[in-house]
Amino acid sequence: MGEFTDQIEPLKQAALAGLRAAPDLAALDQARSNFLGAHGQFTALMKQLGALPKDQKPAAGKAVNAAKIELEAALASRRGELELKAALPTEPADFTLPGRRRPLGKLHPLTQATEDIVRSFRKIGFVVADGPEVEDEYHCFDALNTPADHPARDTQDTVYLAPAPPPNPNLPPAPASAPGSSLPAPAPRLLLRTHTSSVQIRVMKNQAPPVRIIVPGRVYRRDNADATHNPTFHQVEGLYVDRNVTVGDLKGTVEFVFRELMGPETRIRFRPHYFSYTEPSFEIDFSSALTRKMGKEWLEIAGCGMVHPQVFENVGYDPEVWTGWAFGFGIERIAMIRYGINDIRLFYENDARFLRQF
Ligand code: DAH
Repeated sequence: MGEFTDQIEPLKQAALAGLRAAPDLAALDQARSNFLGAHGQFTALMKQLGALPKDQKPAAGKAVNAAKIELEAALASRRGELELKAALPTEPADFTLPGRRRPLGKLHPLTQATEDIVRSFRKIGFVVADGPEVEDEYHCFDALNTPADHPARDTQDTVYLAPAPPPNPNLPPAPASAPGSSLPAPAPRLLLRTHTSSVQIRVMKNQAPPVRIIVPGRVYRRDNADATHNPTFHQVEGLYVDRNVTVGDLKGTVEFVFRELMGPETRIRFRPHYFSYTEPSFEIDFSSALTRKMGKEWLEIAGCGMVHPQVFENVGYDPEVWTGWAFGFGIERIAMIRYGINDIRLFYENDARFLRQF
């Protein structure tokens, strides 16, 4: 026993001296490893504890542990000193140098346009709704009265996702869709949504009328990028469902919002058009100082119409009771006209010289 405990004190003193004398963090780590590391001298001493006779172990263990705690405290304290020393500047600071500027960031012009559109609609009681960008064909087309063989679907032929891999035969089969049927329901084909109109369906399936929503969001088309096209862009969808809604309500709302966005002298006109989810359907043109600056009296800006009774049937609304209108337009187009931007691709390049102007 005596032999063992006699070793503790001198080794501790040597270790303390080594730790305290370390001139930098690397040297400190070396000293720590020499004494307290896996092959360190102090660790070796602790390993001998096991070989002591049983009656000597408690006292010897206590003494070793007390020394170890002291060493660890000395290590931590020296590490603190050295870290502080390492963090201090090596050269004196020049407090007369000018401060560093932190330039304020800004919202992207598309975000600004979207926020303005949302703000105008909020004034007249609309709320923002949202839906997934990875959509299925049912919500994007079928429920909007655009079946698979419909020509309107060709123009939105778009980016489909690869079908899910076939089920693993080593796993138990998925539960059948209908009771008594052994066939699982066919997985719906997924695609990147081509328009925000899909959210009309999601919202109506989820809530009872009346509905007053707008849906800003990103959409995808298989378009080649040029000055006026990009494979991804943004739209705002609007949907209003209530009793006795008329084209007059639609026109009044559109006029209000476009005057907010494009100035009080803005005029709008409706031209008959075709969309499969509205009847009658229109394209909206507008005219303002901005369009005249672009050398045109009228510019096409949106599609709209009265919600088709079949769409109401598809979401479980009674078309004899409920009426409504819907519209959709592109946010990039609004922003381009407002700010006089002539190439849509500028929005996505994130060139700070472009973005700083808005
Ligand atoms: N979804 C159409 C498009 O992407 C825009 C649109 C037209 C939306 C008429 C509507 C609508 O809600 O009624 O071109």
